Amino acid sequence: MSAPAIQFEKVTKTYTLCQHVAGGIKTFLFHLPAAVRQLRNNKFTALDEVSFEVARGEALGVIGPNGAGKSTALALIARVLRPNAGRITVRGRVLPLLELGAGFHPELTGRENIILNGVLMGLLRREVRARLGQIIEFSELGEFIDQPVRTYSNGMLGRLGFSVVAHLDPEVLLVDEVLTVGDAAFQAKCMRRMQEFRRRGVTMVFVSHDMHAVRVICERAMWLDRGRVRMLDASQAVTASYEAALAGGQARGEVPADGQA
Ligand SMILES: Nc1ncnc2c1ncn2[C@@H]1O[C@H](COP(=O)(O)OP(=O)(O)O)[C@@H](O)[C@H]1O
Ligand SMILES: [Mg+2]
Repeated sequence: MSAPAIQFEKVTKTYTLCQHVAGGIKTFLFHLPAAVRQLRNNKFTALDEVSFEVARGEALGVIGPNGAGKSTALALIARVLRPNAGRITVRGRVLPLLELGAGFHPELTGRENIILNGVLMGLLRREVRARLGQIIEFSELGEFIDQPVRTYSNGMLGRLGFSVVAHLDPEVLLVDEVLTVGDAAFQAKCMRRMQEFRRRGVTMVFVSHDMHAVRVICERAMWLDRGRVRMLDASQAVTASYEAALAGGQARGEVPADGQA
């Protein structure tokens, strides 16, 4: 057995909430020392001693209600965030497809963003150029490829993002919900591409609300609930339990009222 591609050991991530400022900037400034103290202490635990491993070449699905900590976990794997406690080990070249449109510059065209992203992800400019045609074709964006990205709909942003990722060469691929925005045909194409990545032995962490997609793509799934691992097992078993909980109303409305920053 080779070492796991991803290892979380009792990882905790807290966010500092800035709600206090919303109470009025004047009040905030007037009581500055007290306000700052309160801000510091007003922590929200997004992940609470979370431990899991993803084997090399394995696909792990991450499911759970909004606010459960799924995106936080991916951002930690991608090293966009740092944990407050615990240990994270990631082996291999990570390619994150995080939130919709993240990493795209709104004023640049789709074509320019492909080049920018490719280069940021470690390709040489000429390597990106060589793949540009395939990427544009995959995206099905047609003439919109030469429009600024700020004019794109969510569906178009999702297409552009996935098309770039689909033509790069990651060892660890992180996908956060982006597939929910395209039309059915494009989603099916993305699913086929993800399965291709799987066959090539790419390690994947796939955040999705689409339980069918999680079962198709992932061997195992992790159900996060208010920052804790509620279940970690074969994807069939975990998605079935989650669906049962949703149907019973036990997995909804679990986001604490103060959970949104
Ligand atoms: N930058 C941030 N500052 C403060 N709180 C945040 C921040 N990002 C996320 N959170 C909070 O952390 C919790 C987990 O968020 P997230 O990881 O995005 O959950 P999920 O992806 O499962 O919906 C949520 O309650 C969210 O409001
Ligand atoms: Mg999220």
